[in-house]
Amino acid sequence: MTVTLLGSPAIGDFDGIDLDMLIRQGFRPVPVDRIRTLASEVLGIDLIPGEVAPASVPGSHVEVAVPLPDGPAIRHYSLLAGAANRLRVAVLRERHGRGASAWLHENLDSCTSLLIRGPRDTFGYGGTGPAYFVAGGIGITPLTAMISAAASSGRDWHLLYVGRQQESMAFADDLVTEFDSSRVTVHITEAAGRPDVVSAVEDWASSRNEPTTVFTCGPVPLMRALEVGFEQHPSISVISEAFDEDNEAGASTQVGSGLSSAASSVSRSDSATNGATGTESVGIDEAFIVELGDGSEVEVPSECTIIDALNRAGVHTLSSCQKGTCGTCETAILDGRADHRDSVLSDEEHAAQETMMICVSRACGKRIALDL
Ligand code: FES
Repeated sequence: MTVTLLGSPAIGDFDGIDLDMLIRQGFRPVPVDRIRTLASEVLGIDLIPGEVAPASVPGSHVEVAVPLPDGPAIRHYSLLAGAANRLRVAVLRERHGRGASAWLHENLDSCTSLLIRGPRDTFGYGGTGPAYFVAGGIGITPLTAMISAAASSGRDWHLLYVGRQQESMAFADDLVTEFDSSRVTVHITEAAGRPDVVSAVEDWASSRNEPTTVFTCGPVPLMRALEVGFEQHPSISVISEAFDEDNEAGASTQVGSGLSSAASSVSRSDSATNGATGTESVGIDEAFIVELGDGSEVEVPSECTIIDALNRAGVHTLSSCQKGTCGTCETAILDGRADHRDSVLSDEEHAAQETMMICVSRACGKRIALDL
Protein backbone atom coordinates (compact mmCIF):
# COMPACT_ATOMS: atom_id res chain seq x y z
CA MET A 1 0.00 0.00 0.00
CA THR A 2 1.20 3.52 -0.70
CA VAL A 3 0.17 7.01 0.32
CA THR A 4 0.00 10.25 -1.62
CA LEU A 5 1.91 13.24 -0.28
CA LEU A 6 0.29 16.56 -1.10
CA GLY A 7 -0.54 15.41 -4.61
CA SER A 8 2.92 13.98 -5.26
CA PRO A 9 3.37 10.45 -6.60
CA ALA A 10 3.36 7.42 -4.31
CA ILE A 11 6.35 7.23 -1.94
CA GLY A 12 5.45 4.29 0.30
CA ASP A 13 3.17 3.64 3.25
CA PHE A 14 4.30 6.18 5.87
CA ASP A 15 2.34 7.08 8.98
CA GLY A 16 1.22 10.74 8.81
CA ILE A 17 3.19 11.82 11.89
CA ASP A 18 6.33 10.12 10.60
CA LEU A 19 5.86 11.74 7.23
CA ASP A 20 5.55 15.19 8.82
CA MET A 21 8.74 14.59 10.74
CA LEU A 22 10.63 13.39 7.68
CA ILE A 23 9.60 16.43 5.65
CA ARG A 24 10.42 18.75 8.57
CA GLN A 25 13.86 17.21 8.77
CA GLY A 26 14.66 17.77 5.13
CA PHE A 27 13.49 14.65 3.28
CA ARG A 28 11.92 15.29 -0.13
CA PRO A 29 10.10 13.06 -2.62
CA VAL A 30 12.36 12.51 -5.61
CA PRO A 31 10.99 10.85 -8.76
CA VAL A 32 12.27 7.42 -9.70
CA ASP A 33 13.40 7.50 -13.32
CA ARG A 34 14.52 3.91 -13.84
CA ILE A 35 14.96 0.64 -11.95
CA ARG A 36 17.17 -2.12 -13.29
CA THR A 37 19.14 -5.18 -12.20
CA LEU A 38 22.87 -4.43 -12.04
CA ALA A 39 24.01 -7.87 -10.82
CA SER A 40 22.59 -10.80 -8.90
CA GLU A 41 20.56 -9.29 -6.01
CA VAL A 42 21.74 -5.76 -6.84
CA LEU A 43 19.10 -3.24 -7.86
CA GLY A 44 20.07 -0.05 -9.66
CA ILE A 45 17.84 2.99 -9.02
CA ASP A 46 18.07 6.22 -11.01
CA LEU A 47 16.42 9.27 -9.42
CA ILE A 48 15.65 12.64 -10.97
CA PRO A 49 17.07 15.12 -8.47
CA GLY A 50 14.82 18.08 -9.32
CA GLU A 51 15.31 20.63 -6.55
CA VAL A 52 17.77 18.32 -4.75
CA ALA A 53 21.35 19.22 -5.61
CA PRO A 54 23.35 16.58 -7.47
CA ALA A 55 26.40 15.22 -5.63
CA SER A 56 29.46 17.40 -5.92
CA VAL A 57 31.94 15.23 -4.00
CA PRO A 58 32.77 11.72 -5.25
CA GLY A 59 31.81 9.14 -2.61
CA SER A 60 28.78 11.13 -1.37
CA HIS A 61 25.63 9.31 -0.30
CA VAL A 62 21.93 10.04 0.07
CA GLU A 63 19.67 9.05 2.94
CA VAL A 64 16.59 7.12 1.87
CA ALA A 65 13.50 6.82 4.07
CA VAL A 66 11.97 3.34 3.85
CA PRO A 67 8.52 2.66 5.38
CA LEU A 68 9.06 -0.47 7.50
CA PRO A 69 6.24 -1.75 9.75
CA ASP A 70 7.80 -0.41 12.97
CA GLY A 71 8.44 3.06 11.56
CA PRO A 72 10.60 4.76 8.94
CA ALA A 73 14.04 3.25 8.45
CA ILE A 74 16.73 5.61 7.22
CA ARG A 75 19.37 4.01 5.03
CA HIS A 76 22.40 5.56 3.38
CA TYR A 77 23.23 4.66 -0.21
CA SER A 78 26.34 5.84 -2.00
CA LEU A 79 25.91 7.70 -5.24
CA LEU A 80 27.31 6.03 -8.31
CA ALA A 81 29.24 7.72 -11.07
CA GLY A 82 26.88 8.69 -13.81
CA ALA A 83 24.92 11.36 -15.59
CA ALA A 84 25.06 14.81 -13.98
CA ASN A 85 21.27 15.14 -14.00
CA ARG A 86 20.58 11.88 -12.17
CA LEU A 87 21.18 10.50 -8.67
CA ARG A 88 22.07 6.82 -9.11
CA VAL A 89 22.28 4.28 -6.30
CA ALA A 90 22.72 0.51 -6.10
CA VAL A 91 20.99 -1.58 -3.42
CA LEU A 92 22.17 -5.08 -2.54
CA ARG A 93 19.38 -7.22 -1.15
CA GLU A 94 20.63 -8.21 2.29
CA ARG A 95 19.21 -11.61 3.25
CA HIS A 96 20.01 -11.00 6.92
CA GLY A 97 19.58 -7.22 6.99
CA ARG A 98 16.98 -5.23 8.88
CA GLY A 99 14.47 -5.15 6.06
CA ALA A 100 15.06 -1.91 4.18
CA SER A 101 16.90 -3.40 1.21
CA ALA A 102 14.29 -6.16 0.92
CA TRP A 103 11.52 -3.54 0.97
CA LEU A 104 13.18 -1.60 -1.84
CA HIS A 105 13.65 -4.75 -3.94
CA GLU A 106 10.04 -5.84 -3.43
CA ASN A 107 8.08 -2.57 -3.42
CA LEU A 108 9.90 0.04 -5.42
CA ASP A 109 8.10 -0.76 -8.66
CA SER A 110 4.84 0.43 -7.06
CA CYS A 111 6.38 3.76 -6.01
CA THR A 112 7.09 6.55 -8.41
CA SER A 113 9.20 8.54 -5.94
CA LEU A 114 11.54 7.92 -3.01
CA LEU A 115 11.88 10.13 0.07
CA ILE A 116 15.50 11.20 0.23
CA ARG A 117 17.78 13.68 1.99
CA GLY A 118 21.22 14.76 0.83
CA PRO A 119 23.59 14.22 -0.88
CA ARG A 120 26.23 14.33 1.82
CA ASP A 121 29.90 13.34 1.88
CA THR A 122 31.39 11.51 4.85
CA PHE A 123 33.97 9.44 2.96
CA GLY A 124 36.55 12.12 2.28
CA TYR A 125 37.85 11.56 -1.25
CA GLY A 126 40.55 14.06 -2.08
CA GLY A 127 44.19 14.59 -2.91
CA THR A 128 45.95 14.47 -6.25
CA GLY A 129 48.66 11.83 -5.77
CA PRO A 130 48.46 8.14 -6.65
CA ALA A 131 45.21 6.49 -5.53
CA TYR A 132 44.63 2.77 -5.00
CA PHE A 133 40.97 1.75 -4.70
CA VAL A 134 40.01 -1.48 -2.95
CA ALA A 135 36.36 -2.53 -3.19
CA GLY A 136 34.73 -5.53 -1.57
CA GLY A 137 31.34 -6.53 -3.05
CA ILE A 138 28.74 -3.75 -2.94
CA GLY A 139 31.49 -1.50 -1.51
CA ILE A 140 32.26 -0.72 -5.14
CA THR A 141 29.41 1.83 -5.20
CA PRO A 142 31.10 4.92 -3.67
CA LEU A 143 34.34 4.05 -5.45
CA THR A 144 32.77 4.27 -8.92
CA ALA A 145 32.43 8.04 -8.58
CA MET A 146 35.95 8.36 -7.18
CA ILE A 147 37.40 6.31 -10.03
CA SER A 148 35.57 8.45 -12.52
CA ALA A 149 36.95 11.61 -10.87
CA ALA A 150 40.48 10.17 -10.74
CA ALA A 151 40.37 9.14 -14.39
CA SER A 152 39.05 12.46 -15.63
CA SER A 153 41.57 14.47 -13.60
CA GLY A 154 44.55 12.47 -14.87
CA ARG A 155 45.33 11.03 -11.42
CA ASP A 156 47.42 7.85 -11.29
CA TRP A 157 45.11 5.11 -9.94
CA HIS A 158 44.31 1.42 -9.78
CA LEU A 159 41.26 -0.58 -8.63
CA LEU A 160 41.30 -3.96 -6.92
CA TYR A 161 37.71 -5.21 -6.93
CA VAL A 162 37.11 -8.29 -4.77
CA GLY A 163 33.95 -10.40 -4.91
CA ARG A 164 32.83 -13.95 -4.34
CA GLN A 165 31.37 -14.58 -7.79
CA GLN A 166 31.53 -12.65 -11.03
CA GLU A 167 27.74 -12.51 -11.38
CA SER A 168 27.34 -10.74 -8.04
CA MET A 169 29.91 -8.04 -8.85
CA ALA A 170 28.08 -5.00 -10.17
CA PHE A 171 30.03 -2.89 -12.68
CA ALA A 172 32.95 -5.36 -12.95
CA ASP A 173 32.58 -5.86 -16.71
CA ASP A 174 31.87 -2.18 -17.35
CA LEU A 175 34.96 -1.07 -15.42
CA VAL A 176 37.27 -3.52 -17.20
CA THR A 177 35.84 -2.51 -20.57
CA GLU A 178 36.15 1.19 -19.87
CA PHE A 179 39.59 1.22 -18.26
CA ASP A 180 41.21 -2.15 -19.19
CA SER A 181 43.11 -4.52 -16.93
CA SER A 182 46.11 -2.26 -16.43
CA ARG A 183 43.83 -0.13 -14.25
CA VAL A 184 41.29 -2.64 -12.97
CA THR A 185 41.96 -5.97 -11.25
CA VAL A 186 38.90 -8.14 -10.62
CA HIS A 187 39.58 -10.80 -7.98
CA ILE A 188 37.01 -13.58 -7.59
CA THR A 189 37.50 -15.34 -4.26
CA GLU A 190 35.52 -18.45 -5.20
CA ALA A 191 38.14 -19.15 -7.85
CA ALA A 192 41.30 -17.55 -6.45
CA GLY A 193 40.81 -17.45 -2.67
CA ARG A 194 41.22 -14.39 -0.50
CA PRO A 195 43.61 -11.81 -1.93
CA ASP A 196 46.61 -10.40 -0.09
CA VAL A 197 45.38 -6.82 -0.34
CA VAL A 198 48.30 -5.33 1.58
CA SER A 199 50.87 -6.87 -0.78
CA ALA A 200 48.83 -5.82 -3.80
CA VAL A 201 48.86 -2.20 -2.66
CA GLU A 202 52.55 -2.32 -1.70
CA ASP A 203 53.55 -3.74 -5.07
CA TRP A 204 51.67 -1.04 -6.94
CA ALA A 205 52.74 1.83 -4.67
CA SER A 206 56.42 0.83 -4.66
CA SER A 207 56.83 1.96 -8.25
CA ARG A 208 55.36 5.40 -7.53
CA ASN A 209 57.48 8.34 -6.45
CA GLU A 210 54.74 9.99 -4.39
CA PRO A 211 52.75 8.89 -1.33
CA THR A 212 49.75 6.68 -2.20
CA THR A 213 46.28 6.99 -0.73
CA VAL A 214 44.17 3.84 -0.46
CA PHE A 215 40.39 4.36 -0.64
CA THR A 216 38.51 1.27 0.47
CA CYS A 217 34.93 0.22 1.08
CA GLY A 218 33.59 -3.26 1.74
CA PRO A 219 33.52 -5.94 4.42
CA VAL A 220 35.16 -5.02 7.72
CA PRO A 221 37.92 -7.72 7.57
CA LEU A 222 39.06 -6.42 4.18
CA MET A 223 39.23 -2.82 5.34
CA ARG A 224 40.75 -3.78 8.68
CA ALA A 225 43.57 -5.68 6.92
CA LEU A 226 44.46 -2.51 5.03
CA GLU A 227 44.14 -0.24 8.08
CA VAL A 228 46.36 -2.49 10.19
CA GLY A 229 48.77 -3.20 7.34
CA PHE A 230 49.48 0.48 6.71
CA GLU A 231 48.99 1.96 10.17
CA GLN A 232 52.64 2.99 10.50
CA HIS A 233 53.53 3.14 6.83
CA PRO A 234 55.49 6.26 5.89
CA SER A 235 53.94 6.79 2.46
CA ILE A 236 50.68 4.83 2.26
CA SER A 237 47.50 6.12 3.93
CA VAL A 238 44.14 4.40 4.12
CA ILE A 239 40.72 6.05 4.01
CA SER A 240 37.87 3.60 4.52
CA GLU A 241 34.12 3.78 4.83
CA ALA A 242 32.22 1.08 6.66
CA PHE A 243 28.95 -0.36 5.49
CA ASP A 244 26.26 -1.31 7.97
CA GLU A 245 23.47 -3.84 7.50
CA ASP A 246 21.29 -3.10 4.49
CA ASN A 247 24.49 -1.90 2.78
CA GLU A 248 24.29 1.60 4.10
CA ALA A 249 27.32 3.84 4.10
CA GLY A 250 28.60 4.66 7.57
CA ALA A 251 31.60 6.27 9.16
CA SER A 252 34.83 7.08 7.43
CA THR A 253 38.10 6.03 9.02
CA GLN A 254 41.51 7.37 8.11
CA VAL A 255 44.81 5.83 9.14
CA GLY A 256 48.45 6.04 8.17
CA SER A 257 51.05 8.75 8.10
CA GLY A 258 51.16 9.34 4.38
CA LEU A 259 51.34 12.86 3.08
CA SER A 260 48.03 13.06 1.25
CA SER A 261 46.09 16.10 2.40
CA ALA A 262 42.88 14.10 2.39
CA ALA A 263 44.36 11.46 4.64
CA SER A 264 46.10 13.78 7.04
CA SER A 265 43.26 16.22 7.66
CA VAL A 266 40.98 14.36 10.07
CA SER A 267 41.21 11.10 11.94
CA ARG A 268 37.89 9.67 13.01
CA SER A 269 39.15 6.22 13.80
CA ASP A 270 39.59 6.74 17.55
CA SER A 271 36.04 7.80 18.19
CA ALA A 272 34.75 5.13 15.84
CA THR A 273 36.61 2.51 17.83
CA ASN A 274 35.87 3.45 21.39
CA GLY A 275 32.66 5.36 20.85
CA ALA A 276 33.45 8.00 23.43
CA THR A 277 36.15 10.31 22.16
CA GLY A 278 34.46 13.64 21.69
CA THR A 279 36.26 16.92 22.15
CA GLU A 280 34.88 17.49 25.61
CA SER A 281 34.14 14.04 26.97
CA VAL A 282 33.03 14.20 30.58
CA GLY A 283 33.79 10.53 31.19
CA ILE A 284 30.74 9.73 33.33
CA ASP A 285 27.19 9.75 31.94
CA GLU A 286 25.24 12.14 34.11
CA ALA A 287 21.57 13.05 33.81
CA PHE A 288 20.71 16.33 32.12
CA ILE A 289 17.78 18.25 30.67
CA VAL A 290 17.07 18.75 26.97
CA GLU A 291 15.06 21.86 26.18
CA LEU A 292 13.03 21.57 22.97
CA GLY A 293 12.22 24.29 20.48
CA ASP A 294 8.73 24.83 21.97
CA GLY A 295 10.19 25.38 25.44
CA SER A 296 9.22 21.98 26.84
CA GLU A 297 11.81 19.87 28.64
CA VAL A 298 12.80 16.21 28.60
CA GLU A 299 15.06 14.69 31.23
CA VAL A 300 17.78 12.38 29.94
CA PRO A 301 18.73 9.94 32.71
CA SER A 302 22.32 8.81 33.16
CA GLU A 303 21.79 5.42 31.53
CA CYS A 304 19.76 6.72 28.60
CA THR A 305 20.55 8.34 25.25
CA ILE A 306 18.88 11.57 24.15
CA ILE A 307 17.05 9.72 21.39
CA ASP A 308 15.68 7.11 23.79
CA ALA A 309 14.60 9.78 26.27
CA LEU A 310 12.82 11.71 23.52
CA ASN A 311 11.10 8.60 22.20
CA ARG A 312 9.91 7.71 25.70
CA ALA A 313 8.50 11.24 25.96
CA GLY A 314 6.66 10.81 22.64
CA VAL A 315 8.93 13.15 20.69
CA HIS A 316 9.57 11.69 17.22
CA THR A 317 13.17 11.78 15.99
CA LEU A 318 15.09 10.31 13.09
CA SER A 319 17.87 7.79 13.55
CA SER A 320 19.56 5.01 11.67
CA CYS A 321 22.83 3.52 12.96
CA GLN A 322 22.31 4.49 16.63
CA LYS A 323 26.11 4.35 16.92
CA GLY A 324 27.13 7.87 15.99
CA THR A 325 28.47 6.81 12.62
CA CYS A 326 25.89 7.77 9.99
CA GLY A 327 24.78 11.38 10.64
CA THR A 328 21.03 10.79 10.35
CA CYS A 329 20.23 12.08 13.85
CA GLU A 330 22.27 15.28 13.52
CA THR A 331 20.45 18.02 15.44
CA ALA A 332 21.16 21.73 15.78
CA ILE A 333 22.27 23.00 19.18
CA LEU A 334 20.41 26.16 20.20
CA ASP A 335 22.06 26.69 23.57
CA GLY A 336 24.59 24.84 25.69
CA ARG A 337 27.47 22.57 24.70
CA ALA A 338 27.59 18.96 23.59
CA ASP A 339 29.85 16.18 24.84
CA HIS A 340 30.45 14.81 21.32
CA ARG A 341 30.81 11.04 21.00
CA ASP A 342 30.15 10.51 17.30
CA SER A 343 32.54 9.72 14.48
CA VAL A 344 30.71 11.71 11.81
CA LEU A 345 31.63 15.30 12.60
CA SER A 346 35.19 16.53 12.30
CA ASP A 347 37.18 17.93 15.22
CA GLU A 348 36.45 21.41 13.87
CA GLU A 349 32.71 20.70 13.72
CA HIS A 350 32.80 19.34 17.27
CA ALA A 351 34.52 22.50 18.44
CA ALA A 352 31.98 24.71 16.62
CA GLN A 353 29.17 23.25 18.76
CA GLU A 354 26.55 23.92 16.10
CA THR A 355 25.13 20.39 15.79
CA MET A 356 25.36 17.06 17.59
CA MET A 357 24.46 13.39 17.03
CA ILE A 358 21.78 12.75 19.61
CA CYS A 359 22.03 8.94 19.41
CA VAL A 360 25.35 8.93 21.28
CA SER A 361 26.38 12.45 22.30
CA ARG A 362 25.32 14.06 25.55
CA ALA A 363 25.27 17.48 27.17
CA CYS A 364 28.19 19.11 28.90
CA GLY A 365 26.59 20.25 32.12
CA LYS A 366 22.97 20.10 33.24
CA ARG A 367 21.11 21.53 30.21
CA ILE A 368 21.21 21.75 26.48
CA ALA A 369 18.67 23.32 24.11
CA LEU A 370 18.12 21.56 20.79
CA ASP A 371 16.23 22.45 17.64
CA LEU A 372 13.60 19.75 18.00
S1 FES B 1 21.58 7.56 14.17
FE1 FES B 1 23.44 7.45 13.03
S2 FES B 1 24.63 9.06 13.91
FE2 FES B 1 22.87 8.98 15.13
